[in-house]
Amino acid sequence: MMREAGLVAAEILDQMCEAAKPGTSTYDLDQIARAGIARHARRVDEAVAETARAVRKLASNPELRTNIELAKRTATEIDQLTSMFTGLRQIVKPGADIERIVGDVADRHRVISAFLGYATPPYPAVVCTSINEVIVHGIPRRNEVIKDGDIIGIDFGIFMHGFCADTARTVMVGDVSPERRKLVETARDSLEAAIKLCRVGNRLGDVGYAVQSYAESRGYSVVRQFVGHGTGRQMHEDPQVPNFSDAGPGTGKRMKSGLVIAVEPMVNAGTPDVEVLSDEWTAVTKDRQMSAHFEHTIAITDEGPWVLTRPTSTPGNP
Ligand code: MF3
Ligand code: CO
Ligand code: CO
Repeated sequence: MMREAGLVAAEILDQMCEAAKPGTSTYDLDQIARAGIARHARRVDEAVAETARAVRKLASNPELRTNIELAKRTATEIDQLTSMFTGLRQIVKPGADIERIVGDVADRHRVISAFLGYATPPYPAVVCTSINEVIVHGIPRRNEVIKDGDIIGIDFGIFMHGFCADTARTVMVGDVSPERRKLVETARDSLEAAIKLCRVGNRLGDVGYAVQSYAESRGYSVVRQFVGHGTGRQMHEDPQVPNFSDAGPGTGKRMKSGLVIAVEPMVNAGTPDVEVLSDEWTAVTKDRQMSAHFEHTIAITDEGPWVLTRPTSTPGNP
């Protein structure tokens, strides 16, 4: 179920990245994401309703009362049908309030924004759009138009089936300077280096060290004020996943099978220092130099890393 959340988040992020062209406003990107959420929300609602109809049809067979074998088989079939939406099994109970149960199950599984209304002051959009010197948490705005040569971080998170998927990418718009390109590629590759280390028994310090040493070896700095995080029933869960390791590799918590983390390096061209603007969200580099951000939601499995927000990934094949 977390995989499905990851695929949906990835699909909608892709759509925004494709739309990130000169002349598009960041508000347009938010609208694309909202439409994507609505589309998938509807899909889940329909799947729940359809499953409910199928269950009711099976359960309404009058022969069930007399034929014990049939009753057993039907119970198994209903279990299979509802394996995704287990709560729907309750609708076969005598006197069940079917509409309420169907509604509750749909609420629990539906796609919703992980960002809208988050924290204080409540985050006002479903996506973060962070252009150039903006590190993360840029708020989409109608009058903020993407220009040729910009680098724009697009961060998107949803809940689906009650689980969070959180993913981000920095898009190079049109003709980007070689300096900016190198920064973006470094941030991207630092995440890939980190993902390779997301294995049972490795430590979080290994992951942070991989990001930091790669970024610093190319002359950049990593942001310390924001970190990656565990994710699951909530967007931000323990453990914290720093993009640095002062104590070096071989330190920090060991990763266990089943852990899901969002790794999200923020790489700055200049110093790592952050300033948060008066909207209390937009985080910019203190020196106003460029910054790039990439993020994936990764499951630690016995086979190895599974990048839930990358469609081509399978367990052990990041
Ligand atoms: N998605 C961000 C992260 O990577 C958090 C965004 S804060 C929000 O952790 F308010 F926009 F949701
Ligand atoms: Co994110
Ligand atoms: Co995150």
